[in-house]
Amino acid sequence: MAIEVRPATPADQPYLRRSLTAAFSGTVVAVHDELIDAAALPAAIAWHGSEPSGLLTYRVVGADWEVVSIAADRSGSGVGSALLGWVRETAVAAGAARLWLVTTNNNVNALRFYQRHGYDLVAVHRDAVTRARALKPAIPTMLDGIPVRHELELEVRL
Ligand SMILES: CC(C)(COP(=O)(O)OP(=O)(O)OC[C@H]1O[C@@H](n2cnc3c(N)ncnc32)[C@H](O)[C@@H]1OP(=O)(O)O)[C@@H](O)C(=O)NCCC(=O)NCCS
Repeated sequence: MAIEVRPATPADQPYLRRSLTAAFSGTVVAVHDELIDAAALPAAIAWHGSEPSGLLTYRVVGADWEVVSIAADRSGSGVGSALLGWVRETAVAAGAARLWLVTTNNNVNALRFYQRHGYDLVAVHRDAVTRARALKPAIPTMLDGIPVRHELELEVRL
């Protein structure tokens, strides 16, 4: 079945909260020394027919668009690509200059995924996740046997 991406509406709040909680242990994400309530951000949902299957939230600061969160309910079925495609098209249509995001050093799957979608690694923020853990203790210290410590910043120039 084709995936359709649409902006989230107030009626989608229950799914939004469920998706963020499943992927990030809560609706608040701790990135680049900030706590961001992702449930309050503009968002897009990927739909398989009437079933929501993934969520992207984003933030706009001037001509910079930041993907604050992205998560597919089931990996490897095209949901993440559809969401990244949507935000890029929407950002271009709005005249954005830069689309950027951060991931963490352990998340080699996301690093692969973003680079295959044209994102370029522009900075490594050492120990940014260690600092974020002080703000959000639910962030794991180890995943897949890898210490979770650094933020990797990636961008696409539009
Ligand atoms: C990272 C993430 C968002 C990627 O989303 P995704 O839906 O798995 O991504 P896609 O399915 O679009 O693409 C992943 C791979 O699946 C393949 N794929 C796409 N559609 C497919 C389908 N119908 N059947 C099988 N494979 C498919 C893609 O080709 C891609 O493989 P490739 O890179 O070799 O081309 C997702 O894995 C996720 O939610 N991870 C957990 C949360 C997370 O880490 N978020 C990022 C935090 S920074």
